[in-house]
Amino acid sequence: MANTSQSLFDRGMKVLVEGVSSASRGPATFGGAPRYMSHGAGARLYDVDGREYIDWMMAFGALPLGHAHPKVVETITREVARGTHFATALKVEVEVAEMLVALLPHVDKVRFANTGTEAAMAAFRLARGYTGRRKIIKFEGHYHGWWDSVLVNTNPLPPTMLGHPNDPIRIPDSSGIPEEAWKDTIVVRWNDVEALERAMALHGRDAACVVTEGVMSNMGVIPPKPGYLNRMQELCHQHGALFYLDETVTGFRLAAGGAAEIYGLSPDIVTYGKALGGGLPMAMIGGRAEIMAGLEWGKVLHFGTHNAGRLALHLTKVMLETMLADNQAGFAKIKDLGLKMAAEVRCVAKASNRHGVVVQGVNSMFQIFFTDREEITDFRDFCTHVDRAKFRDFALRLMDKGIYMNPSATLHSLSSIVHTEADIAATARAMAEVLEEMP
Ligand SMILES: Cc1ncc(COP(=O)(O)O)c(C=O)c1O
Repeated sequence: MANTSQSLFDRGMKVLVEGVSSASRGPATFGGAPRYMSHGAGARLYDVDGREYIDWMMAFGALPLGHAHPKVVETITREVARGTHFATALKVEVEVAEMLVALLPHVDKVRFANTGTEAAMAAFRLARGYTGRRKIIKFEGHYHGWWDSVLVNTNPLPPTMLGHPNDPIRIPDSSGIPEEAWKDTIVVRWNDVEALERAMALHGRDAACVVTEGVMSNMGVIPPKPGYLNRMQELCHQHGALFYLDETVTGFRLAAGGAAEIYGLSPDIVTYGKALGGGLPMAMIGGRAEIMAGLEWGKVLHFGTHNAGRLALHLTKVMLETMLADNQAGFAKIKDLGLKMAAEVRCVAKASNRHGVVVQGVNSMFQIFFTDREEITDFRDFCTHVDRAKFRDFALRLMDKGIYMNPSATLHSLSSIVHTEADIAATARAMAEVLEEMP
């Protein structure tokens, strides 16, 4: 069988760091050569040797419309012929901002950026500028991009390095981060109201913001306990800290209004990325007018040559129009498919009964944990009770059967509007075989 991926990887290793441009695409995740993809169509990816895969990763959630959606192709083809990027004010910029403000009740104004990381950097600076405070309260296992100040306790750690739950040991996830960068970053256990109340009593009055993912999405999928995020919002208001909901993953995924909508939240600041751009880099910071005014010239600085790229904005518009049509049918569809896929995996695992498997999901997102626990509720559970090596084996075996999921247990799978019930059935069949084959 041809293995062009291996030969591309051998070449890539000579000229690219790890053969790729992000560790999650290379040997650190795949254990060796990743599959090199040549093209995508609908819910399918095709590798350089012509093998076909049902894609459940969808570019880490950037593709709610799937690959090469006809409206996306038509829009890009039309618009690219009129120029790629102007770095000027644009009509489409106003139009898309109007759509977003109409859709999101907690957002009066938006500022466009390119990636989730950049939007978060600007949001943290804005929170500090607006409140005049320095501390950032974040949670164990939550990822808000690779900026120095919040790149702390975002990767799984050995259980002996977690520290006491009342006082998690703070561990930066990278060399090259000066201590000053995370000196004012407080790390708290997530999904634990008491831990948060304790942290707020200690640091709340110095906190510029409390930042959270709406659903923990960088340790598989871990939903918030009922009322937990609402209590967080309340505590922020009590202490004058901004409540910052990072919707990079959950935005335009869980519902039209993201995690804020499904959990009834009204965050002070939100950031979005991934799905927002419908496949091209697009991110945004949003919030109440009074807070967002902090980004005006002379107050809190946010620049960027590629901010509000016109091609990406046109795709954002297409994504929103397509997902919102017919009373938000696109969001209903991805939710339905995601829930069905998660239920199917549960059935398959139960029927096989050879491995401890727990499937956790929220609407269109789901993840499969190999664990003896009944539920994974936070970072500590994940680090202590999830068998990540087993998940990688599972995902790599699935890949050989034409099912593409990222082999990292810390990530998750996603449905798009172009997945079908037949895709779910085919995926379930492949999973049943893999669970029988696995040691
Ligand atoms: C919750 C969250 N915030 C921010 C980011 C950073 O986004 P980007 O990769 O676009 O910089 C990510 C990326 O996975 C994320 O999951």
